[in-house]
Amino acid sequence: MNFDLTENQKLIQDMMRKFAKEELEPKAAEYDKTCEFPTENIKKLAELGILGMVVPEQYGGAGFDFVSLAVAVEEISRACGSTGVIVAVHNSLVSYPILNWGNEEQKKRYLPKMAIGEKLGAFALTEPNAGSDPGSLEMTARPEGNYYILNGTKRFITNAGKADVFVVIANTDKTKGSKGISAFIVDRNSPGFSIGKHEDLMGLRATDNCELIFEDCKVPKENLLGQEGQGFKLALSLLDVSRIDIGAQSVGIAQAALDKSIIYAKERKQFGRAIAEFELIQAKLAEMAMKIQAARLLTYNAAFIKDKGATRFSQESSMAKLYAATMAVEVTREAVQIFGGYGYSKDYAVERYYREAKCMEIYEGTSEIQKIVIARNLLG
Ligand code: CAA
Repeated sequence: MNFDLTENQKLIQDMMRKFAKEELEPKAAEYDKTCEFPTENIKKLAELGILGMVVPEQYGGAGFDFVSLAVAVEEISRACGSTGVIVAVHNSLVSYPILNWGNEEQKKRYLPKMAIGEKLGAFALTEPNAGSDPGSLEMTARPEGNYYILNGTKRFITNAGKADVFVVIANTDKTKGSKGISAFIVDRNSPGFSIGKHEDLMGLRATDNCELIFEDCKVPKENLLGQEGQGFKLALSLLDVSRIDIGAQSVGIAQAALDKSIIYAKERKQFGRAIAEFELIQAKLAEMAMKIQAARLLTYNAAFIKDKGATRFSQESSMAKLYAATMAVEVTREAVQIFGGYGYSKDYAVERYYREAKCMEIYEGTSEIQKIVIARNLLG
């Protein structure tokens, strides 16, 4: 068993760590405050090939594996949580399904532009009345001539305000339940498509998370992704991939909280000594570091299994997501505790990490949903 990253993965880690520290971290608090989409970050990341990480070279991408993506997302999230999510969604929830389920025409049309960041992706599954239970989604896609006519509303869509390409999940035949659900590639300029309310989120505030509105939206039939009726399984297997990214985001955010806590504990003096000298603070730091490393290993393990070619790895990705998300909330809460009153103020980053970490337990399936997935795998 070899726990080492490959030479390539180490190079990506070093490059992203340096880039994130110098370019992303100094602006993260401001993006969080203003909710402004970090366009400049995304442009620079595109130049480094990070928006085409999982796209093979033949379609203009870097052709890296999912361990590399996890490593990159971890380092980006360590500096700026919002930028981490934007990159993860673009790669795993939009480029990857087009690569995996798209036909040759779709791959050639979308992937090269997505790989260089000329087009940004968003994934639209969640609706006002269908979150944990996506099988109950209400949005419809009815065939008419050479088009599907889409009607409905999507909610909490990351990247929505800036995305050009949307992978959208809708009912093509409600009588068939989850087997009547299909996936579509929807261009931003499609007639009948508009962006609705911008979400004022607790954390990850610069992700331009919005509602999507489809009113007799005309989507050409050639934009069906995969087969009609395959959309539900496509969405669930996609979430297995992107839950690995949530593990990586959680690890990155928690690592940032630990980094800052170590520096602060050595500098902050109370009772005549640096608080790092107190054993209760040392115990907190030790537990934070141990939990982060455990979550990192679960996350890399899930990505490694995906890279080895497993077709189903729901258990591994849900375990990584569940453990890492829980860990991130605990670790960032402890960081706020170590900082005391300063931790509760916006003068320090740890309160932002705590807000960002909370989202890890909610999106792409709540922690409760991950337990259902794991238990179903155990019980068969
Ligand atoms: N991969 C492939 N197929 C799968 C699958 C997977 N991971 N999981 C289930 N399936 C298949 C099943 O085999 C079954 O197929 P058959 O009918 O042929 O047997 C079919 O899909 C239905 O499966 P279930 O009956 O198990 O489905 P369910 O309705 O009970 O749902 C669930 C299971 C795990 C609870 C699932 O609904 C789930 O994961 N819910 C959470 C949804 C979620 O994560 N939403 C987040 C939205 S996206 C987001 O947050 C993006 C963003 O903006 C960042």
